[in-house]
Amino acid sequence: GKVAVLMGGRSAEREISLKSGQAVLAALQRNQIDAHAFDPSEQPLENLLTQGFDRTFITLHGCYGEDGSVQGALELMNLPYTGSGILASALAMDKWRTKMIWQTAAISTPDYVMLNADSNFQEVADRLGLPLIIKPVREGSTIGLSKVNRVEDIQSAYEVAVQYDPFVMAEQFIQGIELTAAILDDVPLPLVRIDVTDGLYDYQAKYFSDNTRYTCPSGLSETLTTRIQEQALSAHQILGCAGWGRVDLILDKEERPFFLETNTSPGMTDHSLVPMAAQAAGIAFDELVIKILQLSRV
Ligand code: DAL
Ligand code: MG
Repeated sequence: GKVAVLMGGRSAEREISLKSGQAVLAALQRNQIDAHAFDPSEQPLENLLTQGFDRTFITLHGCYGEDGSVQGALELMNLPYTGSGILASALAMDKWRTKMIWQTAAISTPDYVMLNADSNFQEVADRLGLPLIIKPVREGSTIGLSKVNRVEDIQSAYEVAVQYDPFVMAEQFIQGIELTAAILDDVPLPLVRIDVTDGLYDYQAKYFSDNTRYTCPSGLSETLTTRIQEQALSAHQILGCAGWGRVDLILDKEERPFFLETNTSPGMTDHSLVPMAAQAAGIAFDELVIKILQLSRV
């Protein structure tokens, strides 16, 4: 059938989504699949039906794409789509609800406080310690995120974050190793270890820097790797995620994993981590894309 690769959209991650989408589109076309780009910010989603598409591959990131909204619309149109369903997408987009669910399932996640304009930032810092992280609750690619070293800088970090989402969270900063666990069809792929030479694994470090080093497999012991992968799979499953996804975490100095969030439509750019993890598992990019398509929700 005819496949629409949904890309672009109107979230702050639009540019990344276009890169992910183009990579996926090229892979499908290389494999003789009748695939076409479709940007929901340029035309109504209903056009998928009039243009004769019979399934979709979602490479939208962030709001209106990764958050359950497009998934809901596609269900109403009876069009199969890749990845998680409505509820899991909406929950995973929301780092606050994600934490609440993980905490009830004994999946450790850094302590946090929800902020508003009247919050007592000194009390927040006393509870979480410094440095701490300020982030919009529903955003991706670390957009709107700051690492704050001093109480007097929380205000401006809050003001940045609140431009992206009225819900803003302060989160304990865990010093340690940044890792990510890609999940494909309920199987964890090899862990990717991320080492950023100049500070934070932020938007620049993610997509533009040549100084970000990735190690996959991570080099951690087999026992530790398995423990992290099992917990990552639980973290993915407890939210109801399906098909594929990527769970981000920090391993602290005592080798305890702290789960940060899960991504239900992870990046598929040439700097992205799911393709890297798949590669380490012997799954080439095209094979990965086709597998995700085959796992579509009908
Ligand atoms: N939100 C970006 C696309 C990612 O997690 O890969
Ligand atoms: Mg994310």
